[in-house]
Amino acid sequence: MTISTPRKRVLSGMRSTGKLHLGNFVGALENWVKMQDQYECFFFVADWHALTTDYADTSRVKQNSLDVAIDWLAAGLDPDRCTMFIQSHVPQHAELHLLFSMITPLGWLERVPTYKEQRENITEKDLGTYGFLGYPLLQAADILIYKGDFVPVGEDQVAHIELTREVARRFNQFYKIKGKEVLPEPQPLLTPTPKLPGTDGRKMSKSYGNTIMLSDPEPVVRQKLKTMTTDPARVRRTDPGNPDVCPVGDLHKIFSDKATMAKVYEGCRSAGIGCIECKGWAADALVQVLNPMQERRKKYEENPRLAWDILEAGSAKAREVANATMEQVREAMHMSLNAPPK
Ligand code: TRP
Ligand code: SF4
Repeated sequence: MTISTPRKRVLSGMRSTGKLHLGNFVGALENWVKMQDQYECFFFVADWHALTTDYADTSRVKQNSLDVAIDWLAAGLDPDRCTMFIQSHVPQHAELHLLFSMITPLGWLERVPTYKEQRENITEKDLGTYGFLGYPLLQAADILIYKGDFVPVGEDQVAHIELTREVARRFNQFYKIKGKEVLPEPQPLLTPTPKLPGTDGRKMSKSYGNTIMLSDPEPVVRQKLKTMTTDPARVRRTDPGNPDVCPVGDLHKIFSDKATMAKVYEGCRSAGIGCIECKGWAADALVQVLNPMQERRKKYEENPRLAWDILEAGSAKAREVANATMEQVREAMHMSLNAPPK
């Protein structure tokens, strides 16, 4: 008989911003897909987090959550191997967030680097709200309620995991069950994020309108590549170029095999190839990644209910786990629901 050790638990979320692009894939989703067999994974659509900035018009919240989930399924998240759910369908996150808000000093939240940055950079919306300041604390509740061992995130989120650890320590100092701590501190699992340029050469981002979507059909991908910026030094076909300063070169580095890379470097530097040819090869490499996604997404696009059912089933499972933690949290705080005071 073999004794299997329980797998470590991984938890991560993605804001529900609607359909995903290649940047979301190489920065996070690709990594999640790989983790499904090694860990017990919980992945959720952070729709409440989306509200912290997009609170004024909520008409697309549900649709955005569904669109994100369909992209996850297309990319290869498998509901038989991971739990996918919607944050707002597990209201226990909000209860834990509220309790955390009682013990978290304001200064901890005001000092989070993403808070200061976004307050300065996002001027078109009023982010002077309670919810926006509390964003990382809601994230702490998301994580701690599953007692996750690891949280895969990009560099920009590490400060939030650090805050999560601080909140867990503070909670554990104040409240215990018979001397025992309730909330384990999670570790960040840093996802390496390769530099993925959009079609205009800037970082691929929804707000720049330079994205290649996971749902773009092949002809659209090829067309977008054709318009992509190249090494500005290569004005004429006969000018040599340098793939290291070319956004198309960056795409090759992420998606192309060694043989293609060799052809790109040699051909570009010697002006032996044209940019059109080179972009065609980059498109080939992208299409190889995206075509299997097109295949997998078909059935969900024809019948979105299938994807919604997966989210509902995942949310039911998540609620059970979250509720078990909340029972301990309430007990540690002498606030359990099922007994009169002692
Ligand atoms: N803040 C994360 C982001 O913007 C999304 C998120 C919300 C998250 N809750 C989380 C990530 C919990 C990891 C764990 O990308
Ligand atoms: Fe960029 Fe390729 Fe043109 Fe070189 S040949 S400048 S790498 S598109």
